[in-house]
Amino acid sequence: MKTILTGIRSNSVLTLGNYLGALLPMVRLANEHSDDMNVNIFVPDLHSIISDVDGDLQENIIRTIKYYLAAGLKINKNVHIYRQSRVPAHSQLCWILNCVATMGEMSRMTQYKEKSEGRESCNVGIFDYPVLMAADILLYSADYIPLGEDQFQHIELTRNLATRFNNKFGAEIFTVPVKTAEQVKFMGVDEGIRIRDLLNPEKKMSKSTAAENSKIMLNDEPSKAAKKIMSATTDSLGKIKYDMWGQPGISNLLQIEALVNDIPLHEVVTKWAGETRYGELKKQVAASVSNMLTDFQEKLAEISDEEVYELLEIGEKYANEVANAKLAEAEKAFGLR
Ligand code: TYM
Repeated sequence: MKTILTGIRSNSVLTLGNYLGALLPMVRLANEHSDDMNVNIFVPDLHSIISDVDGDLQENIIRTIKYYLAAGLKINKNVHIYRQSRVPAHSQLCWILNCVATMGEMSRMTQYKEKSEGRESCNVGIFDYPVLMAADILLYSADYIPLGEDQFQHIELTRNLATRFNNKFGAEIFTVPVKTAEQVKFMGVDEGIRIRDLLNPEKKMSKSTAAENSKIMLNDEPSKAAKKIMSATTDSLGKIKYDMWGQPGISNLLQIEALVNDIPLHEVVTKWAGETRYGELKKQVAASVSNMLTDFQEKLAEISDEEVYELLEIGEKYANEVANAKLAEAEKAFGLR
């Protein structure tokens, strides 16, 4: 059976970028495929501690899992939900893969460069976290990993590590996940998703950006979120066109409109092509986002902690079994067993 797997760090309340780039695509794929594929959703809590955590990590973890349920995730026997730190095999395989990864390839990781930029020194976790991510993926032989575009480089790293490992030992120990272009196809989107900062649309929307109006958080009052959309930076070209390089602000709004309503991007682009009134587009997107948030927040409030703990108990039993079996294969290959 094929496996779809994804994780979102739970350092704080999530942004609309996390929601549209990773959470919602995962929920849609899970609901579509969970009859005949494994669906692994986990909270990478060990990844969370590479940077400061806003609020209480345990509360954030439980809330992140509730987000999936509020976004409509249907649970069946093939859907597995777990916390990374409760499955020690992740850390153990990470160490083994550290001995396969090279300093050169790790130094080229864009996320590392971005996260360490301007700091005199940064913790080793920030440098090494893509290897832990590779372990998260390879332990479960995952084929498909729905992610935002900022994480694609880590999929390529995972593919390289798996291939190098398999070649070294002349055996297909790890399943190599599909290439990023195929991941995008599987996600059913026209291109990798990168929701932009509302004020500074050259950059991605990020929870760590200080300016409140640059990002929409999933706990924003819907009316406040609508105002943020209305004040989003656009351009002075006066023509609606999808062009992420030339018109990133407008293109971002078109992208958000498509994803929130589950309409193919090209349809939204065609509908608005050539229009000149940016205000009309903003009003439409503001209404879409605020409706989405109202519905999402209502559903979120109905989910209890108990429900989440029950899912974790079952999911973590499953995850430990699968992960320990794969770890043992990797350890044997290296002569550790
Ligand atoms: P993280 O927690 O930074 O981001 C979680 C997910 O949200 C997506 N995302 C975005 N997508 C579109 N537009 C944005 N502005 C935006 N901001 C964030 C990210 O691409 C990601 O899909 N290393 C990972 C977590 C992780 C993981 C894994 C994911 C650890 N192990 C194994 C998948 C499989 C991370 O830091 O994501």
